[in-house]
Amino acid sequence: MPTLNWIGKEAVMNHDKEVPFRLLKKVKSASVGKDSQNLIIHGDNLEALKALMPYYGGKVKCVYIDPPYNTGNESWVYNDKVNSPKIKKWLGKVVGRESEDLCRHDKWLCMMYPRLSLLKQLLRDDGAIFISIDDAELFSLKHIMDEIFGIQNFRACITWQRKYSVSNNFKGIATIIDYILVYSKSENFQNSLLPRTAESIERYSNPDNDPRGPWKAVDYLNQVSPDKRPNLCYEIVNPNTKQVIRNTKKAWKYELDAHKKHIQENRLWWGVKGNNTVPALKLFLSEVRQGMTPHNWWPHEDAGHTDEAKKEIDSILGANLFDTPKPIRLINRILQISTGPDDLILDSFAGSGTTGHAVLQLNKEDGGKRKFILIEMEDAIAKDITAKRIKTAIDKFNFKDGFEYCELDKPLFNENGQIEESCDFNQFATYIYFTETQTNIDRTKVDTNFIGELNETEYYLIYKEKGKNILDKGFLKKLRKTEAKKIVYADNCTIDEKILDEYNVLFKQIPYEVKVY
Ligand SMILES: C[S@@+](CC[C@H](N)C(=O)[O-])C[C@H]1O[C@@H](n2cnc3c(N)ncnc32)[C@H](O)[C@@H]1O
Repeated sequence: MPTLNWIGKEAVMNHDKEVPFRLLKKVKSASVGKDSQNLIIHGDNLEALKALMPYYGGKVKCVYIDPPYNTGNESWVYNDKVNSPKIKKWLGKVVGRESEDLCRHDKWLCMMYPRLSLLKQLLRDDGAIFISIDDAELFSLKHIMDEIFGIQNFRACITWQRKYSVSNNFKGIATIIDYILVYSKSENFQNSLLPRTAESIERYSNPDNDPRGPWKAVDYLNQVSPDKRPNLCYEIVNPNTKQVIRNTKKAWKYELDAHKKHIQENRLWWGVKGNNTVPALKLFLSEVRQGMTPHNWWPHEDAGHTDEAKKEIDSILGANLFDTPKPIRLINRILQISTGPDDLILDSFAGSGTTGHAVLQLNKEDGGKRKFILIEMEDAIAKDITAKRIKTAIDKFNFKDGFEYCELDKPLFNENGQIEESCDFNQFATYIYFTETQTNIDRTKVDTNFIGELNETEYYLIYKEKGKNILDKGFLKKLRKTEAKKIVYADNCTIDEKILDEYNVLFKQIPYEVKVY
């Protein structure tokens, strides 16, 4: 498979593994409702995605992202040239001196690669990622997606008609479409059908009041000539006019046996007056699949357009607050083909929060309990646009859910290599369990110091008060009386190796033996 190279690639290819794990801090005053499982996180998505991993690794059903398109257009609210001071600082740190020579396409690829790697790890095995992009970076994006997700997991490149008209003053060839690249995590992703549109249902009618309900007429003639398909040639008699019809120019579509069955089932339609010279087949609405197969052309009538998106956001937040929102109908379509009623959806370039709004709206429409996680980096956007839009929409449309607003907190390991003091038992237990098992902790199983078990190994954490987290004889008595191997994390251990062996216990010292991932 051809691969794409750019300046800085080596530095970022495995960077997702080097990003420090940071804690998340809930901000009650900016949250809505109590204990909602929806999250809005303010911070760079690289660190935020890493922070989510112990909680949501392998749990997200649908990722939708709308990253900066890297068009070079400086006039946007956020800077689309990947020159945002935060990203510039990050590139300088990660790519080093070389970063001074990067062109904006190198920078964009450096920015995207580790983030896409983390998003893949967060996806469920049967999940999929949808990425909005235009032709400035589509072709580079396709290359790195093939590399990260595997070319076999490429599902579609959807064309979305984001504009329905072009200004006559425009010089050159105007762009009125965007693309949405779709990749699955594995072959286990199965898309759902789209609900039938009113227009597609209108194609079915019932002019003869057939008790089987509405139907549509399907052509009975084939496009091939009779000499090519003699098995599709036979005489048909119109029962009303007694006219005998033979295949002179075209063969029929169905073999004789199938045709006889159609007659038996009273499926031939000879027109309102009954005197058509060629029959049609009645295809009943009740027989066709209850949805429509999604395809890769999404016209604005079906998926919305940018003016509509601006009106949506303006009607909620007031004029001109966010320049590049996507329409709710676009995200709704993605949710319909990729999620079920209980799934988790992640958008790590949240902007005005359309994804969160679309999730809440679809839940209201179909009674689902989907949850969302939104991540937004910019200080001027996260609280005052992303969170505010969702909060206002909840009030305005009476959505029955809220969200927790979080800030990225300090790294788990402080500059001295010690565990950050603000880290509480639950946060630490989640991290330890994830680094040991690569799976997420089940909170319902946590019992005092016991934090879970997997593959006949039990995990324990003694973490209450600095300096007093000791694995001693008293603690041994608290262990479960099972044959399973027991891994115990604590600051210190006062028991001989021999006795630990007798109890099948392996001591791991905090912080030195806490894995960094
Ligand atoms: C094109 S906008 C997304 C618009 C969104 N789909 C909507 O409907 O409003 C991209 C957003 O990603 C944010 N962003 C860019 N880099 C980011 C990063 N590293 N981490 C988190 N957010 C980032 C930008 O601030 C911007 O708000």
